[in-house]
Amino acid sequence: MERNGVFLWICAFAIVVCGNQETLQQPHISAKLPSLINMNNDFAFHLYKRLIEMPDYQSKNIFFSPFSVSMALSELSLGAGGDTKQQLLSGIGHNSTIFSTEEMHQLFHSILEDIDNRTGVDIDVGTALYASDRFKPHSKFLQDMKEFYHSDGFTVDFSVKETVDQINKYVEEKTHGKINQAVDSLEEDTLMFLLTYIYFKGKWEKPFNPQRTSEDTFHMDDKTTVPVQMMHQYEYLKVYYDAELSTKVLCLDYNDSFSMFLAVPDVDMGQKTIKDLEMTISRQHIEKWKSSAIKRKVDIYVPKLSLKTSYSLKDILKGMGMADMFSDKADFTGVSEEGIFVSKVLHKATLDIDEQGTTAAAVTTVEFRPLSYSPLSILSFDRPFMIFIMDQKNGNILFFGKVVNPKENLTS
Ligand SMILES: *[C@@H]1O[C@H](CO)[C@@H](O)[C@H](O)[C@H]1NC(C)=O
Ligand SMILES: *[C@@H]1O[C@H](CO)[C@@H](O)[C@H](O)[C@H]1NC(C)=O
Ligand SMILES: *[C@@H]1O[C@H](CO)[C@@H](O)[C@H](O)[C@H]1NC(C)=O
Repeated sequence: MERNGVFLWICAFAIVVCGNQETLQQPHISAKLPSLINMNNDFAFHLYKRLIEMPDYQSKNIFFSPFSVSMALSELSLGAGGDTKQQLLSGIGHNSTIFSTEEMHQLFHSILEDIDNRTGVDIDVGTALYASDRFKPHSKFLQDMKEFYHSDGFTVDFSVKETVDQINKYVEEKTHGKINQAVDSLEEDTLMFLLTYIYFKGKWEKPFNPQRTSEDTFHMDDKTTVPVQMMHQYEYLKVYYDAELSTKVLCLDYNDSFSMFLAVPDVDMGQKTIKDLEMTISRQHIEKWKSSAIKRKVDIYVPKLSLKTSYSLKDILKGMGMADMFSDKADFTGVSEEGIFVSKVLHKATLDIDEQGTTAAAVTTVEFRPLSYSPLSILSFDRPFMIFIMDQKNGNILFFGKVVNPKENLTS
Protein backbone atom coordinates (compact mmCIF):
# COMPACT_ATOMS: atom_id res chain seq x y z
CA MET A 1 0.00 0.00 0.00
CA GLU A 2 1.42 3.35 -0.96
CA ARG A 3 1.61 5.85 1.85
CA ASN A 4 1.32 9.51 1.30
CA GLY A 5 2.08 12.40 3.56
CA VAL A 6 -0.35 14.29 5.64
CA PHE A 7 1.07 17.56 6.61
CA LEU A 8 0.06 18.97 9.93
CA TRP A 9 0.88 22.55 10.54
CA ILE A 10 0.16 24.55 13.62
CA CYS A 11 0.77 28.21 14.03
CA ALA A 12 0.42 30.26 17.11
CA PHE A 13 -1.44 33.21 16.52
CA ALA A 14 -2.72 29.91 15.28
CA ILE A 15 -4.30 26.66 17.08
CA VAL A 16 -6.00 23.23 16.59
CA VAL A 17 -8.55 20.91 18.20
CA CYS A 18 -10.48 17.85 17.36
CA GLY A 19 -13.80 16.26 18.10
CA ASN A 20 -15.60 12.98 17.90
CA GLN A 21 -18.71 10.99 17.23
CA GLU A 22 -21.89 10.96 19.20
CA THR A 23 -23.51 14.06 20.44
CA LEU A 24 -23.29 14.13 24.16
CA GLN A 25 -26.34 13.63 26.26
CA GLN A 26 -24.87 14.68 29.58
CA PRO A 27 -26.25 18.04 30.59
CA HIS A 28 -23.27 18.91 32.73
CA ILE A 29 -20.41 18.68 30.30
CA SER A 30 -19.15 22.06 31.47
CA ALA A 31 -18.56 20.55 34.90
CA LYS A 32 -15.72 18.64 33.26
CA LEU A 33 -14.11 21.72 31.74
CA PRO A 34 -11.60 22.12 34.59
CA SER A 35 -10.36 18.60 33.88
CA LEU A 36 -9.81 19.43 30.23
CA ILE A 37 -7.97 22.61 31.21
CA ASN A 38 -5.78 20.57 33.57
CA MET A 39 -5.05 18.16 30.75
CA ASN A 40 -4.09 21.01 28.41
CA ASN A 41 -1.97 22.78 30.97
CA ASP A 42 -0.13 19.63 32.03
CA PHE A 43 0.53 19.01 28.36
CA ALA A 44 1.91 22.55 28.10
CA PHE A 45 4.54 21.82 30.75
CA HIS A 46 5.45 18.45 29.26
CA LEU A 47 5.92 20.01 25.85
CA TYR A 48 7.94 22.89 27.27
CA LYS A 49 10.27 20.53 29.10
CA ARG A 50 10.80 18.57 25.88
CA LEU A 51 11.49 21.75 23.93
CA ILE A 52 14.16 23.00 26.30
CA GLU A 53 15.93 19.63 26.15
CA MET A 54 16.35 19.89 22.37
CA PRO A 55 19.90 21.05 21.54
CA ASP A 56 18.56 23.49 18.94
CA TYR A 57 16.41 25.34 21.42
CA GLN A 58 18.71 25.45 24.43
CA SER A 59 19.42 28.94 25.69
CA LYS A 60 16.98 30.34 23.17
CA ASN A 61 13.78 32.22 23.57
CA ILE A 62 10.82 29.88 23.61
CA PHE A 63 7.30 30.86 22.70
CA PHE A 64 4.44 28.62 21.61
CA SER A 65 0.76 27.98 22.07
CA PRO A 66 0.30 24.71 23.96
CA PHE A 67 -3.45 24.96 23.56
CA SER A 68 -3.01 25.11 19.81
CA VAL A 69 -0.86 21.98 19.81
CA SER A 70 -3.09 19.90 22.08
CA MET A 71 -6.11 20.92 20.06
CA ALA A 72 -4.38 19.85 16.84
CA LEU A 73 -3.48 16.48 18.33
CA SER A 74 -7.00 16.04 19.61
CA GLU A 75 -8.29 16.74 16.09
CA LEU A 76 -5.90 14.18 14.68
CA SER A 77 -7.16 11.57 17.15
CA LEU A 78 -10.58 12.03 15.59
CA GLY A 79 -9.33 10.39 12.43
CA ALA A 80 -6.98 7.91 14.05
CA GLY A 81 -7.51 4.28 15.01
CA GLY A 82 -5.71 1.51 16.87
CA ASP A 83 -2.36 2.25 18.48
CA THR A 84 -2.04 5.56 16.65
CA LYS A 85 -5.14 6.79 18.41
CA GLN A 86 -4.05 5.44 21.79
CA GLN A 87 -0.69 7.15 21.44
CA LEU A 88 -2.28 10.46 20.52
CA LEU A 89 -4.70 10.28 23.43
CA SER A 90 -2.12 9.32 26.00
CA GLY A 91 0.32 11.84 24.50
CA ILE A 92 -2.06 14.70 25.17
CA GLY A 93 -2.84 13.29 28.60
CA HIS A 94 -6.36 12.03 28.03
CA ASN A 95 -7.60 9.89 30.93
CA SER A 96 -10.76 7.99 30.05
CA THR A 97 -11.85 7.62 33.67
CA ILE A 98 -12.19 11.42 33.84
CA PHE A 99 -13.82 12.12 30.49
CA SER A 100 -14.44 10.16 27.30
CA THR A 101 -12.94 11.11 23.95
CA GLU A 102 -16.41 12.27 22.88
CA GLU A 103 -16.50 14.56 25.87
CA MET A 104 -13.00 15.79 25.10
CA HIS A 105 -14.06 16.98 21.65
CA GLN A 106 -17.18 18.50 23.11
CA LEU A 107 -15.11 20.35 25.71
CA PHE A 108 -12.70 21.73 23.13
CA HIS A 109 -15.77 22.87 21.24
CA SER A 110 -17.10 24.69 24.28
CA ILE A 111 -13.76 26.49 24.73
CA LEU A 112 -13.92 27.62 21.11
CA GLU A 113 -17.48 28.85 21.57
CA ASP A 114 -16.50 30.68 24.70
CA ILE A 115 -13.57 32.34 22.92
CA ASP A 116 -15.88 33.39 20.09
CA ASN A 117 -17.99 35.20 22.67
CA ARG A 118 -15.23 37.38 24.06
CA THR A 119 -15.17 40.85 22.63
CA GLY A 120 -12.81 42.84 24.87
CA VAL A 121 -9.69 41.43 23.20
CA ASP A 122 -8.96 40.29 19.67
CA ILE A 123 -8.73 36.54 19.85
CA ASP A 124 -9.24 34.19 17.01
CA VAL A 125 -8.78 30.44 17.08
CA GLY A 126 -9.45 28.08 14.25
CA THR A 127 -8.62 25.15 12.04
CA ALA A 128 -8.40 24.59 8.33
CA LEU A 129 -8.21 21.33 6.48
CA TYR A 130 -6.91 21.13 2.91
CA ALA A 131 -7.53 17.89 1.03
CA SER A 132 -6.06 16.92 -2.31
CA ASP A 133 -8.52 16.61 -5.18
CA ARG A 134 -7.14 13.06 -5.52
CA PHE A 135 -8.13 12.19 -1.98
CA LYS A 136 -11.52 11.74 -0.39
CA PRO A 137 -11.64 11.93 3.39
CA HIS A 138 -14.63 10.24 5.03
CA SER A 139 -17.52 12.64 5.27
CA LYS A 140 -17.91 11.72 8.94
CA PHE A 141 -14.39 12.98 9.66
CA LEU A 142 -15.06 16.22 7.81
CA GLN A 143 -18.36 16.68 9.63
CA ASP A 144 -16.81 16.11 13.03
CA MET A 145 -14.00 18.52 12.23
CA LYS A 146 -16.52 21.12 11.30
CA GLU A 147 -18.89 20.50 14.17
CA PHE A 148 -16.38 20.31 16.99
CA TYR A 149 -13.56 22.45 15.69
CA HIS A 150 -15.35 24.81 13.28
CA SER A 151 -12.85 23.68 10.67
CA ASP A 152 -12.78 25.37 7.28
CA GLY A 153 -12.42 22.78 4.50
CA PHE A 154 -10.79 23.21 1.07
CA THR A 155 -10.12 20.92 -1.87
CA VAL A 156 -6.83 21.75 -3.57
CA ASP A 157 -4.19 20.53 -5.98
CA PHE A 158 -0.97 20.15 -4.01
CA SER A 159 1.15 19.86 -7.16
CA VAL A 160 0.74 23.53 -8.06
CA LYS A 161 2.48 26.42 -6.38
CA GLU A 162 -0.77 28.38 -6.07
CA THR A 163 -1.82 26.06 -3.28
CA VAL A 164 1.10 27.14 -1.12
CA ASP A 165 0.17 30.75 -1.84
CA GLN A 166 -3.45 30.02 -0.96
CA ILE A 167 -2.50 28.51 2.39
CA ASN A 168 -0.09 31.33 3.22
CA LYS A 169 -2.72 33.90 2.35
CA TYR A 170 -5.26 32.17 4.59
CA VAL A 171 -2.88 32.11 7.55
CA GLU A 172 -1.78 35.68 6.95
CA GLU A 173 -5.38 36.80 7.02
CA LYS A 174 -6.27 34.77 10.10
CA THR A 175 -3.24 35.98 12.03
CA HIS A 176 -3.73 39.59 10.94
CA GLY A 177 -0.47 39.63 8.99
CA LYS A 178 1.60 38.28 11.88
CA ILE A 179 2.50 35.02 10.15
CA ASN A 180 2.88 35.51 6.44
CA GLN A 181 4.97 32.53 5.41
CA ALA A 182 3.32 29.53 6.98
CA VAL A 183 4.74 27.10 4.43
CA ASP A 184 7.61 27.38 1.97
CA SER A 185 6.72 24.39 -0.12
CA LEU A 186 4.73 21.19 0.00
CA GLU A 187 5.60 17.77 -1.30
CA GLU A 188 3.62 16.98 -4.42
CA ASP A 189 2.30 13.77 -2.94
CA THR A 190 0.73 15.56 0.02
CA LEU A 191 -2.83 14.39 0.46
CA MET A 192 -4.02 16.45 3.35
CA PHE A 193 -2.86 19.48 5.23
CA LEU A 194 -4.21 20.41 8.62
CA LEU A 195 -3.46 23.70 10.26
CA THR A 196 -4.59 25.42 13.38
CA TYR A 197 -4.06 29.02 14.30
CA ILE A 198 -4.50 31.29 17.25
CA TYR A 199 -4.26 35.02 17.17
CA PHE A 200 -4.37 37.15 20.27
CA LYS A 201 -4.13 40.86 20.65
CA GLY A 202 -4.80 42.39 24.03
CA LYS A 203 -4.49 45.89 25.34
CA TRP A 204 -3.18 46.35 28.85
CA GLU A 205 -5.78 47.38 31.34
CA LYS A 206 -3.07 49.73 32.61
CA PRO A 207 -0.93 50.77 29.64
CA PHE A 208 2.66 51.89 30.03
CA ASN A 209 3.53 55.51 29.38
CA PRO A 210 5.92 55.55 26.37
CA GLN A 211 7.70 58.55 27.88
CA ARG A 212 8.85 56.35 30.72
CA THR A 213 10.43 53.80 28.36
CA SER A 214 14.19 54.05 28.14
CA GLU A 215 17.23 52.06 27.16
CA ASP A 216 18.36 49.66 29.83
CA THR A 217 20.45 46.54 30.21
CA PHE A 218 19.16 42.98 30.01
CA HIS A 219 21.35 40.41 31.73
CA MET A 220 21.22 37.25 29.62
CA ASP A 221 23.55 35.59 32.12
CA ASP A 222 26.38 36.57 34.48
CA LYS A 223 28.60 37.63 31.60
CA THR A 224 26.38 38.70 28.73
CA THR A 225 24.18 41.74 28.48
CA VAL A 226 22.13 43.27 25.70
CA PRO A 227 20.56 46.73 25.55
CA VAL A 228 16.76 46.77 25.57
CA GLN A 229 13.95 49.29 25.54
CA MET A 230 12.62 48.92 29.07
CA MET A 231 9.07 50.00 29.87
CA HIS A 232 8.28 51.21 33.33
CA GLN A 233 5.31 51.90 35.55
CA TYR A 234 4.61 52.50 39.21
CA GLU A 235 1.09 51.29 39.80
CA TYR A 236 -1.26 49.05 41.74
CA LEU A 237 -0.71 45.75 39.99
CA LYS A 238 -1.21 42.08 40.83
CA VAL A 239 1.94 40.48 42.16
CA TYR A 240 2.92 37.35 44.00
CA TYR A 241 6.06 36.07 45.62
CA ASP A 242 6.41 32.33 45.15
CA ALA A 243 8.60 31.43 48.09
CA GLU A 244 8.79 27.79 47.09
CA LEU A 245 10.33 28.76 43.74
CA SER A 246 12.04 31.97 44.97
CA THR A 247 10.32 33.66 42.09
CA LYS A 248 8.68 37.04 41.63
CA VAL A 249 5.45 36.97 39.68
CA LEU A 250 3.70 39.84 37.97
CA CYS A 251 0.22 39.54 36.52
CA LEU A 252 -0.68 42.12 33.86
CA ASP A 253 -4.34 42.12 32.90
CA TYR A 254 -5.99 42.62 29.55
CA ASN A 255 -9.68 43.05 29.01
CA ASP A 256 -12.10 40.17 29.32
CA SER A 257 -10.11 38.38 32.03
CA PHE A 258 -7.14 37.45 29.90
CA SER A 259 -3.80 38.00 31.67
CA MET A 260 -0.12 37.69 31.15
CA PHE A 261 1.96 36.24 33.96
CA LEU A 262 5.66 37.08 34.02
CA ALA A 263 7.93 35.16 36.36
CA VAL A 264 11.52 35.99 37.17
CA PRO A 265 13.80 34.14 39.60
CA ASP A 266 14.64 36.25 42.63
CA VAL A 267 18.40 36.67 42.35
CA ASP A 268 18.61 38.31 45.75
CA MET A 269 17.41 35.09 47.27
CA GLY A 270 20.52 33.35 46.09
CA GLN A 271 21.30 30.78 43.52
CA LYS A 272 18.03 30.56 41.63
CA THR A 273 18.33 30.84 37.86
CA ILE A 274 15.87 30.46 35.04
CA LYS A 275 17.03 26.84 34.70
CA ASP A 276 16.08 26.04 38.29
CA LEU A 277 12.74 27.69 37.72
CA GLU A 278 11.89 25.96 34.46
CA MET A 279 12.80 22.53 35.77
CA THR A 280 10.64 22.88 38.89
CA ILE A 281 7.61 24.78 37.69
CA SER A 282 4.32 22.98 37.05
CA ARG A 283 0.72 23.84 36.37
CA GLN A 284 -0.04 23.86 40.10
CA HIS A 285 2.29 26.82 40.55
CA ILE A 286 0.47 28.82 37.90
CA GLU A 287 -2.84 27.94 39.55
CA LYS A 288 -1.50 29.24 42.82
CA TRP A 289 -0.37 32.48 41.20
CA LYS A 290 -3.77 32.88 39.55
CA SER A 291 -5.62 32.58 42.84
CA SER A 292 -3.14 34.29 45.14
CA ALA A 293 -1.78 37.33 43.31
CA ILE A 294 -2.83 40.52 45.05
CA LYS A 295 -2.66 44.17 44.12
CA ARG A 296 0.17 46.26 45.49
CA LYS A 297 1.78 49.47 44.46
CA VAL A 298 4.92 48.31 42.66
CA ASP A 299 7.67 49.52 40.39
CA ILE A 300 7.84 47.32 37.34
CA TYR A 301 10.31 47.14 34.45
CA VAL A 302 9.35 45.05 31.42
CA PRO A 303 11.29 44.98 28.14
CA LYS A 304 9.58 45.68 24.84
CA LEU A 305 9.62 42.48 22.84
CA SER A 306 9.11 41.21 19.36
CA LEU A 307 9.75 37.50 18.99
CA LYS A 308 9.16 34.99 16.24
CA THR A 309 9.58 31.29 16.78
CA SER A 310 9.30 28.25 14.57
CA TYR A 311 9.38 24.65 15.70
CA SER A 312 9.37 21.31 14.01
CA LEU A 313 7.56 19.14 16.51
CA LYS A 314 7.97 15.74 14.88
CA ASP A 315 10.87 14.51 17.00
CA ILE A 316 9.40 16.01 20.14
CA LEU A 317 6.04 14.34 19.68
CA LYS A 318 7.78 11.05 18.86
CA GLY A 319 9.67 11.46 22.11
CA MET A 320 6.39 11.96 23.89
CA GLY A 321 5.17 8.55 22.76
CA MET A 322 3.35 9.54 19.57
CA ALA A 323 5.65 7.78 17.09
CA ASP A 324 3.31 5.59 15.06
CA MET A 325 1.54 8.43 13.28
CA PHE A 326 4.83 9.37 11.58
CA SER A 327 5.62 5.85 10.39
CA ASP A 328 4.16 3.11 8.24
CA LYS A 329 2.33 1.94 11.36
CA ALA A 330 0.12 5.03 11.16
CA ASP A 331 -3.58 4.25 11.35
CA PHE A 332 -5.78 7.06 10.08
CA THR A 333 -8.64 4.86 8.96
CA GLY A 334 -11.00 7.43 10.46
CA VAL A 335 -9.84 9.87 7.80
CA SER A 336 -9.68 7.57 4.81
CA GLU A 337 -9.10 3.98 3.69
CA GLU A 338 -5.98 5.14 1.92
CA GLY A 339 -2.82 4.61 3.93
CA ILE A 340 -1.66 7.98 5.14
CA PHE A 341 0.81 9.17 7.72
CA VAL A 342 1.85 12.48 9.19
CA SER A 343 4.95 13.88 7.50
CA LYS A 344 5.44 17.12 9.41
CA VAL A 345 4.15 19.03 12.38
CA LEU A 346 5.14 22.66 12.41
CA HIS A 347 4.40 25.32 14.92
CA LYS A 348 5.08 29.01 14.50
CA ALA A 349 4.41 31.76 16.93
CA THR A 350 4.98 35.45 17.35
CA LEU A 351 4.89 37.69 20.37
CA ASP A 352 4.91 41.45 20.49
CA ILE A 353 4.82 43.37 23.73
CA ASP A 354 4.76 47.15 23.86
CA GLU A 355 3.37 49.99 25.94
CA GLN A 356 -0.18 49.42 24.71
CA GLY A 357 -0.43 45.68 25.02
CA THR A 358 0.48 42.35 23.57
CA THR A 359 -0.04 40.68 20.31
CA ALA A 360 0.55 36.98 20.32
CA ALA A 361 -0.27 34.93 17.48
CA ALA A 362 -5.32 24.21 42.29
CA VAL A 363 -3.87 22.19 44.08
CA THR A 364 -2.06 24.69 46.14
CA THR A 365 1.28 23.48 47.29
CA VAL A 366 3.05 24.48 50.43
CA GLU A 367 3.37 28.12 51.21
CA PHE A 368 6.62 28.56 53.02
CA ARG A 369 5.98 31.93 54.50
CA PRO A 370 3.73 34.91 54.25
CA LEU A 371 5.30 37.81 52.61
CA SER A 372 5.86 40.53 55.10
CA TYR A 373 9.13 41.95 53.93
CA SER A 374 9.12 43.24 50.48
CA PRO A 375 10.99 41.61 47.62
CA LEU A 376 8.00 42.78 45.64
CA SER A 377 8.48 46.50 45.78
CA ILE A 378 10.44 46.32 42.50
CA LEU A 379 9.89 43.73 39.81
CA SER A 380 12.44 44.07 37.07
CA PHE A 381 12.35 41.70 34.14
CA ASP A 382 15.93 42.55 33.21
CA ARG A 383 17.12 38.94 33.18
CA PRO A 384 15.67 35.70 31.74
CA PHE A 385 12.02 35.23 32.65
CA MET A 386 9.03 33.09 31.80
CA ILE A 387 5.77 34.24 30.24
CA PHE A 388 2.28 32.76 30.26
CA ILE A 389 -0.81 34.18 28.63
CA MET A 390 -3.82 32.76 30.37
CA ASP A 391 -7.56 32.92 30.08
CA GLN A 392 -8.30 33.59 33.74
CA LYS A 393 -11.94 32.69 33.27
CA ASN A 394 -11.04 29.04 33.03
CA GLY A 395 -7.28 28.93 33.60
CA ASN A 396 -6.43 27.77 30.08
CA ILE A 397 -2.81 28.60 29.15
CA LEU A 398 -2.98 29.97 25.63
CA PHE A 399 0.68 30.87 25.22
CA PHE A 400 3.79 29.76 27.05
CA GLY A 401 7.32 31.03 26.77
CA LYS A 402 10.70 32.03 28.06
CA VAL A 403 12.66 35.14 27.17
CA VAL A 404 16.43 34.77 27.45
CA ASN A 405 17.39 37.37 24.86
CA PRO A 406 14.90 40.07 23.95
CA LYS A 407 17.04 40.95 20.93
CA GLU A 408 17.02 37.52 19.34
CA ASN A 409 13.86 37.31 17.35
CA LEU A 410 14.00 34.12 15.40
CA THR A 411 14.30 30.58 16.67
CA SER A 412 14.24 28.00 13.97
C1 LIG B 1 -6.93 8.59 35.60
O1 LIG B 1 -7.70 9.25 36.57
C2 LIG B 1 -8.00 8.45 37.71
C3 LIG B 1 -8.96 9.22 38.57
O2 LIG B 1 -8.48 10.50 38.88
C4 LIG B 1 -6.69 8.11 38.43
O3 LIG B 1 -6.96 7.29 39.54
C5 LIG B 1 -5.78 7.38 37.46
O4 LIG B 1 -4.52 7.16 38.06
C6 LIG B 1 -5.58 8.19 36.20
N1 LIG B 1 -4.85 7.40 35.22
C7 LIG B 1 -3.73 7.83 34.70
C8 LIG B 1 -3.09 6.93 33.70
O5 LIG B 1 -3.22 8.90 35.00
C1 LIG C 1 -22.19 33.16 24.18
O1 LIG C 1 -22.97 34.31 24.37
C2 LIG C 1 -24.36 34.10 24.21
C3 LIG C 1 -25.06 35.43 24.31
O2 LIG C 1 -24.56 36.20 25.36
C4 LIG C 1 -24.83 33.11 25.28
O3 LIG C 1 -26.20 32.85 25.14
C5 LIG C 1 -24.05 31.82 25.12
O4 LIG C 1 -24.39 30.92 26.17
C6 LIG C 1 -22.56 32.10 25.19
N1 LIG C 1 -21.85 30.87 24.92
C7 LIG C 1 -20.81 30.49 25.66
C8 LIG C 1 -20.19 29.20 25.29
O5 LIG C 1 -20.40 31.14 26.60
C1 LIG D 1 -12.60 46.55 27.54
O1 LIG D 1 -13.90 46.07 27.52
C2 LIG D 1 -14.87 47.05 27.79
C3 LIG D 1 -16.21 46.36 27.89
O2 LIG D 1 -16.21 45.13 27.23
C4 LIG D 1 -14.82 48.09 26.69
O3 LIG D 1 -15.76 49.10 26.97
C5 LIG D 1 -13.43 48.69 26.63
O4 LIG D 1 -13.35 49.58 25.55
C6 LIG D 1 -12.41 47.59 26.47
N1 LIG D 1 -11.10 48.17 26.53
C7 LIG D 1 -10.20 47.94 25.61
C8 LIG D 1 -8.88 48.57 25.87
O5 LIG D 1 -10.44 47.27 24.61
